[in-house]
Amino acid sequence: MTAIILSIVNMKGGVGKSTVAVALAEALSLRRRARVLVIDLDPQSNASIMLAGQDRWDGLRLAGRTIDEFFEARLEQLEQEPLKAYVLEEVSDVEGCDTLDLIACTPEFRFVERDAIARFTGRGFAIESVQAKLATIAASGLRSVQRDYDYIIFDCPPGISLFAECAIALSDYLVLPTVPDYISRLGLLAFWRRALKLLPHGKRDENRAFVLATRYDETSPGQRAQLGEIDRDFARLKTIIPYNSDIARAAEYSEDKRSFEAKWRSGASVMQALADEVVERASRNFAPQAGADAADAARLPLQ
Ligand SMILES: Nc1ncnc2c1ncn2[C@@H]1O[C@H](COP(=O)(O)OP(=O)(O)OP(=O)(O)O)[C@@H](O)[C@H]1O
Ligand SMILES: [Mg+2]
Repeated sequence: MTAIILSIVNMKGGVGKSTVAVALAEALSLRRRARVLVIDLDPQSNASIMLAGQDRWDGLRLAGRTIDEFFEARLEQLEQEPLKAYVLEEVSDVEGCDTLDLIACTPEFRFVERDAIARFTGRGFAIESVQAKLATIAASGLRSVQRDYDYIIFDCPPGISLFAECAIALSDYLVLPTVPDYISRLGLLAFWRRALKLLPHGKRDENRAFVLATRYDETSPGQRAQLGEIDRDFARLKTIIPYNSDIARAAEYSEDKRSFEAKWRSGASVMQALADEVVERASRNFAPQAGADAADAARLPLQ
């Protein structure tokens, strides 16, 4: 059985992607005893620091065990180790969360994409070739870890990024965190269409792109109305993540282990409900397609 691959992704920034990625990974590991790997693709490195803490993250950077180094080695054709060699085992400050691993990101990751574009387009290749090259590297990397996990979760950067598109192209499911406000909903429509086209062949299905309402303020009539609009256009998860200062505070890594409830406090039950719903939705139509991912990723549809 290979891992179910989920991307937490939205072009919009600050909507709670990294927070959801971390909480989901912790709930899956702790409550379901699932083996979970979080791959951080965002140079802001928020999920990496939330899961590993500043000191272990610094150690990974010093040791060159981060995702930018993995891609760099392949693009520069340096000595290459499998993606598995970049895994930091047993992350998270939650007590008992011992099946949760991380491949960390660093701020330097932003140069990998930029340099790859400059190098390949400078040699006359189209941007599509750069994207296909990155996707092929990512797909072959995943093959070295896919059988070791039940879930692989990509925490994607905001904006338009070749790496976020690679992650989508390798995913079984997408979770699109969205604040239910007018502007966010308009942006979501365009992004959702694009994301569906990028999903692997055979998985381009609306029921695989879950919209998740986040930072929801139920006292706001505007947000309540926008939630209704979202429901008309998208397959939204039933779980709604409220605006909650306990959830914001959970981002801070604790050197002392604590329970899931102590970490997420009044947000613990909703994060647990999110994990349960994602597992349930993913079990509805999950049919592993061994060997299809790499080929699919190399055939990214481009507009
Ligand atoms: N449900 C919530 N209620 C209140 N604050 C939240 C909630 N979820 C996340 N936050 C806070 O909002 C900010 C943005 O969250 P987060 O970093 O998870 O978003 P993001 O979408 O990953 O951002 P980026 O696009 O920059 O990667 C953080 O300060 C986080 O602690
Ligand atoms: Mg983030």
